[in-house]
Amino acid sequence: MSSAKRTLLLRATGFAHQLLEQNLRPGDTAIDATCGNGHDTAFLCRLVGREGTVIAVDVQDEAITATQSNIERQGLSSHLIQGCHSDLPSLVSPFLPEGKSAHAIMFNLGYLPRGDKSIITKTETTLRALDHSLTLLEPFGILTIAVYTGHGGGAAEGSAVDIWSQHLPQDDFSVISYRFENQRNSPPHLIAVQKKPASS
Ligand SMILES: C[S@@+](CC[C@H](N)C(=O)[O-])C[C@H]1O[C@@H](n2cnc3c(N)ncnc32)[C@H](O)[C@@H]1O
Repeated sequence: MSSAKRTLLLRATGFAHQLLEQNLRPGDTAIDATCGNGHDTAFLCRLVGREGTVIAVDVQDEAITATQSNIERQGLSSHLIQGCHSDLPSLVSPFLPEGKSAHAIMFNLGYLPRGDKSIITKTETTLRALDHSLTLLEPFGILTIAVYTGHGGGAAEGSAVDIWSQHLPQDDFSVISYRFENQRNSPPHLIAVQKKPASS
């Protein structure tokens, strides 16, 4: 019998990472639309490698600084942009490789851990950013949205995102959700959207 330790824990954010690990390749392009402390940005940088492109966006200066030092510490690099993700196309287009769109886009909603809890993602700007993300995705590209409902406004934003995802046309997108059925304390859930290739 194998003595290798099992370490997999069921978590929404972990499931997002598993999907992207399977789908991203060295040289790909990825966007982190809520970079926060830079953990997802660093994860994306490792997957796409030096020949790939990662563009990280956050509305807060503090998050951009935290992401910068996080990825620098790990010898990684990405384009860092301070701005609201509802303006995603104009923010990222100067950094997208010629003629390319994104193979992965990550959203991790809510507030910056250990930061200002009054700066949170908001339903209206989140939905606008998600609509833009669909146009920025490559065929087979994956959009992940980690949804936190435990803070003020989080439940309303979470149900708006659920409804948004349930209404995406099935000919163009596959949508799955991954959520706990038995946990107290409002754990995050994940929505993942894959853009289908145009049918020939
Ligand atoms: C849960 S944190 C993200 C954590 C991050 N993925 C990480 O790995 O550390 C959510 C982030 O969304 C950012 N945010 C809130 N509203 C935003 C907006 N309109 N546009 C871009 N970022 C926003 C917050 O500043 C915060 O840093």
